[in-house]
Amino acid sequence: MTSLSLAGPDVAAAKTDVLVVGAAKGPKGPVLAAGNAAVDKAFGGRLGRTLGDVGFVGNEDECVRLPAPGDLGASSVVVVGLGDAGNVTAETLRRAAGAGVRAAAGVRRAATTLALHTGVDAGAALRAVAEGALLGAYDFTRFRNASLTGRKGPVQSMVVATNDPKGRAATNAAKRAETVAAATALTRDLVNTPPGDLHPADLADVARTEATKAGCTVDVMDEKALRKGGYGGILGVGQGSANPPRLVRIGYTHPKAKRTIALVGKGVTFDSGGISIKPSASMEAMKSDMAGAASVVAALTAIARLGVKVNVTGWVPTAENMPSGAAIRPGDVLTMYKGKRVEVLNTDAEGRLILGDAITRAGEEKPDMIVDVATLTGAQIVALGMRTSGLMSNDDDLRSRIAAAAEVAGEQLWPMPLPGELRKSIDSDVADIVNTGDRYGGMLVAGVFLREFVPEGMPWAHLDIAGPAFNTNDAWGYTPKGGTGVPVRTFLQLAEDEAAR
Ligand code: BES
Ligand code: MN
Ligand code: ZN
Repeated sequence: MTSLSLAGPDVAAAKTDVLVVGAAKGPKGPVLAAGNAAVDKAFGGRLGRTLGDVGFVGNEDECVRLPAPGDLGASSVVVVGLGDAGNVTAETLRRAAGAGVRAAAGVRRAATTLALHTGVDAGAALRAVAEGALLGAYDFTRFRNASLTGRKGPVQSMVVATNDPKGRAATNAAKRAETVAAATALTRDLVNTPPGDLHPADLADVARTEATKAGCTVDVMDEKALRKGGYGGILGVGQGSANPPRLVRIGYTHPKAKRTIALVGKGVTFDSGGISIKPSASMEAMKSDMAGAASVVAALTAIARLGVKVNVTGWVPTAENMPSGAAIRPGDVLTMYKGKRVEVLNTDAEGRLILGDAITRAGEEKPDMIVDVATLTGAQIVALGMRTSGLMSNDDDLRSRIAAAAEVAGEQLWPMPLPGELRKSIDSDVADIVNTGDRYGGMLVAGVFLREFVPEGMPWAHLDIAGPAFNTNDAWGYTPKGGTGVPVRTFLQLAEDEAAR
């Protein structure tokens, strides 16, 4: 991973390959961000004008690389757009840091003055820039030979300028950013790993290794244990695959914790649709159908490493959804964990089946709240697009707290309702409920289905990350192509917020 260090505000003089600076979009052309007086001076006080001359406006995600004048410590300068000068937030800086670091790929050392921006709280700015820089330097190289592809590797060391680099606040911010980046990279790696290299048992193994290293306890139920326990949803989804399912429990406790959060993540290692098979184009990204699970595992590692004063239990139901002579058929009825019966009319609505079991199981331990996360419906993408996750809850207060955590963390999600009238669309003619309902509002129907497995009175929230978990478009800001790491940062922030309550 890229290493991070902090330096004082005079970083412009320091020896480096690339210096990343910000420039906003002003009424009369680009406006250099605060903290860049020395850089501008090295350009003869004309950097703003030079930027205008090369057609740079200052829009977000706009990047230009200029050769540096001799009296600057850097060989070149990457200028990143910050958008409208009046609208710069911590998230703007996080994205700019990511875009700048991506533009610097191929060099060894980079430094940035982005955290010296004055419109944003200094602590929040440092945290955001450090995170954005490390997140933008991500690369998934396991299945690639650099000498064959000729791709430029990410920046290896990153220096972030800040006013008090030796202070405790700054040191903590850097440590937190490194932990967040490592957890996000773990999520992205798991999502990007080909489905043939990450069967349910492999996902469980990674969960065990990584969570144990971070100081959590891990228990894995194999198919035999699942059968004995009556986990019909997880077993049903997994029964068409040669690679049997698992249920993982990850435990993190803090001696001074007052509250317990249960996180439940969908871990479908590959979703072919099963007998209700998907068209092949819709299958291309379905190695990402375990992104919820990956984010839960990674969030637990981060929470444990940072010693957050809260208890968190992670639940990862994981299965491979495949068609075969042994697979569940449309019309089959599954007996879920604790007995509810579900008529499976569409084997492609499999995520809710494994989550139903896991949510019931999580509820048995009586946590203070259950939050599940899943690449659950194509309808999420129709409703909210590729970057905004859907947030549903049976508890207004919990919904607000999660939305607030996401806002601070810089992850996009938006509240969605769970309309009561949709409930009758999952009535079954032969069983207790069906796994598919109204075609319209498909994201909400899935939420209404999951609610059936939440214990009476238990605050619960559901995050549908179908689009945001996997970027099929070009890289932008600190978000690469492929696995994004959503919503690890929101989970960590939520845990910290709950600890402080
Ligand atoms: N894993 C998919 C949802 C998905 C779609 C995730 C696109 C990421 C990108 C899920 O299991 C699924 O197939 N859902 C169906 C539900 C339907 C059969 C009720 C869907 O959305 O079409
Ligand atoms: Mn499916
Ligand atoms: Zn799925």
